[in-house]
Amino acid sequence: MTILVTGGAGFIGSNFVLDWLAGCDEPVVNLDALTYAGNLRNLASLAGDSRHRFVHGDICDAALLDALLAEHQPRAIVHFAAESHVDRSILGPQAFIQTNVVGSFTLLEAARRHWGGLDAAAREAWRLLHVSTDEVYGSLEPQAPAFTETHRYEPNSPYSASKAASDHLVRAYHHTYGLPVLTTNCSNNYGPYHFPEKLIPLIIHHALAGQPLPVYGDGQQVRDWLYVGDHCAAIRRVLQTGRLGETYNIGGCNEKTNLDVVRTVCAMLDELSPRGDGQSYATQIAFVRDRPGHDRRYAIDAGKIERELGWRPAETFETGLRKPILWYLQHQDWVREVTSGEYREWVHRQYQP
Ligand code: NAD
Ligand code: DAU
Repeated sequence: MTILVTGGAGFIGSNFVLDWLAGCDEPVVNLDALTYAGNLRNLASLAGDSRHRFVHGDICDAALLDALLAEHQPRAIVHFAAESHVDRSILGPQAFIQTNVVGSFTLLEAARRHWGGLDAAAREAWRLLHVSTDEVYGSLEPQAPAFTETHRYEPNSPYSASKAASDHLVRAYHHTYGLPVLTTNCSNNYGPYHFPEKLIPLIIHHALAGQPLPVYGDGQQVRDWLYVGDHCAAIRRVLQTGRLGETYNIGGCNEKTNLDVVRTVCAMLDELSPRGDGQSYATQIAFVRDRPGHDRRYAIDAGKIERELGWRPAETFETGLRKPILWYLQHQDWVREVTSGEYREWVHRQYQP
């Protein structure tokens, strides 16, 4: 048996592949286009491991998908590949439509062709798990109940709109063709290999580099934070025991304002790697102009996956957050590599006054 993972050189995908192969011997075919966000160094510990086959390619390439499915006969596809950063979607939405909508559609079509040609037993066991986001539900008022799976879709950024479109396509392929799909909608992840364009790794990196820590607007926006290893465990659980055609919300029960998150990262860094001048990293906090259309609050009600599949997060925010901070401190070579070249241009474009 084999699984096909798309986007397995990115942040969550590489954590998923590493965790998968640490827990079992079922091989992984890993298809990734290696955009700025994909990094083979994330998978360096798998060098020479015959259970991992990396394929450099695009999910928009139908012929490649057909060939991979025919050659490897995976029993499941776990679909992570996406353009994932909201700020980039605001500056340049085209790539988000291409990968998240056209790419997901191309993958669904290839899956439909492949699945349609399997024998009855293989068709019965086959799965496509689509990894999506809580951002498809839009923004919550401060006291509103957390998102359940039946919350209406109200995406507000080009990123979340493109993910919503892919969710709808996945749903339609189940409803119309009977394709055996599962969808997960997860809250904000953090952990090792997190690319330093996203809030937590950007703050760690800027703090250690002595740069300003940019907080958008008033910093009172709320996100629900989940350790990436908990997300990967939830995906494995849904893949194993999720009900076909269902969607499952995944979250950490860790609602925090951005300012609280930044202050907590600073406090942990003060303890683990104090500044030479004895001052707190929090003195580097700088309020900057807000993200256009910035969603005020996300919160996940993860009751369904807990009740039906028995999953709940193992980490609290405080236990989980130490891991990427220690990881960043111990992997400055990785950080140096990903923050050269294109990354500098991005930071300049995004944060220029
Ligand atoms: P990421 O940006 O770190 O990684 C995306 C990966 O997809 C990269 O390796 C990239 O090279 C690859 N990729 C991009 N376009 C591709 C294409 N056309 N063909 C093949 N590969 C391509 O993203 P991430 O944070 O790891 O997110 C993974 C998935 O999880 C995404 O679908 C995202 O929407 C979803 N998600 C992310 C979070 C989060 O907090 N990061 C939360 C919920 C859901
Ligand atoms: O909710 C799940 C989503 O979480 C995923 O679908 C996305 O792929 C992932 O990028 C993430 O989206 P966010 O926009 O919430 O994450 P980001 O880390 O970009 O920002 C988190 C919050 O911090 C958000 O309110 C914006 C704010 N922020 C972000 C950056 C990069 C800042 O205040 N300053 C910053 O420099």
